[in-house]
Amino acid sequence: PETITIQELANRMSERAVDVIRLLMKQGQIHKITDVIDSDTAQLIAEEMGHTVRRVAESDVEEGLTSDEPDLEEDLDPRPPVVTIMGHVDHGKTSLLDAIRAANVVEGEAGGITQHIGAYQVAAPSGDLVTFIDTPGHAAFTSMRARGAKVTDIVVIVVAADDGVMPQTVEAIQHAKAAGVPMIIAINKIDKPDANPQRVRTELLQHDIQVESMGGETLEFEVSAKTGEGLPELLEGLQLQAEILNLRANEKRDGEGTVIEAQLDRGRGPVATVLVQRGTLFTGDIVVAGAEWGRIRALIDDTGKHVPYAGPSVPVEVLGFNGTPDAGDRVIVVPNEARAREVTEYRARIKRERLNARTGGANRSLVDMMR
Ligand code: GTP
Ligand code: MG
Repeated sequence: PETITIQELANRMSERAVDVIRLLMKQGQIHKITDVIDSDTAQLIAEEMGHTVRRVAESDVEEGLTSDEPDLEEDLDPRPPVVTIMGHVDHGKTSLLDAIRAANVVEGEAGGITQHIGAYQVAAPSGDLVTFIDTPGHAAFTSMRARGAKVTDIVVIVVAADDGVMPQTVEAIQHAKAAGVPMIIAINKIDKPDANPQRVRTELLQHDIQVESMGGETLEFEVSAKTGEGLPELLEGLQLQAEILNLRANEKRDGEGTVIEAQLDRGRGPVATVLVQRGTLFTGDIVVAGAEWGRIRALIDDTGKHVPYAGPSVPVEVLGFNGTPDAGDRVIVVPNEARAREVTEYRARIKRERLNARTGGANRSLVDMMR
């Protein structure tokens, strides 16, 4: 249901918040200025104070932004699986991706700790593409999931064979389970002398994960990011899992996707890494993402190349936003700037109200107001 803070309601009526609070009190409701009331109560109060109410529902502004109509069967084409790499700190997530990608991401990172999510596409031995998302620990994934963003088709849980199942391994498992996403286990660092993959399997059992070699259904692979051992098998396993999922998308519609990460770059302005999920994004498109919008000035792929468009399961850097969107924000193409402004101004207001409700004037109690 729609809500509004007492302060915002008062502002919009150009009334004093204290008068709103008094009226509510007469009706037996005790409130302070930062409290949130539902829209029906707000309407009653407004009318009682002699105002005409015009309710603009979220659905009116957001209406038609995306088509809820399912795509036609004939418009659907296979798309690469989106695979998120998760696991405990230092268990080798970035190294693994790096080895798969045969590039060198780890060395470029400050202290070898992942600064932000990287998203890349690589070709499996079959030639088919796989999209990988690397997560720092799993904070970003957690926040995205908390915001209802579903980006990943498969989760690879990386467990270091010399360290075993650790607290963040367990959390990663729980996230994957809660999201209903299939898991594949990569037992990493098997090149190490003290590697004990069997112990990892037993520990996983304690968390209700029965791997294939122990009669279960969860695919597991012994790998080494250092030597490259087991990596082709892991990729094949991912392909196999992807085939079962039968992942398809319509690339012939307007682009839609999710912001994986975003930051303000000194030279380039706001830069958002976007995973395209349906349709195709083109340079020149006008897009909204959360409370921000922009005309796409450039699309840059995972190798740093400028590209004219990006289709389903493709991660791209999007340049041209007027502000920096948040990870997890949905990216949607709109027909024109006026529409983009309407949507983002509305969302910015909602965002402000929510923030005010939580933080603004929290110390001003009802008693203070009545003085
Ligand atoms: P965070 O992003 O900080 O959570 O770490 P991560 O999981 O990405 O780990 P990262 O890839 O940074 O690797 C951590 C350390 O383990 C590095 O020093 C790697 O060189 C080392 N390492 C990773 N994989 C292997 C492996 O297969 N064998 C050996 N011997 N060392 C590895
Ligand atoms: Mg890392």
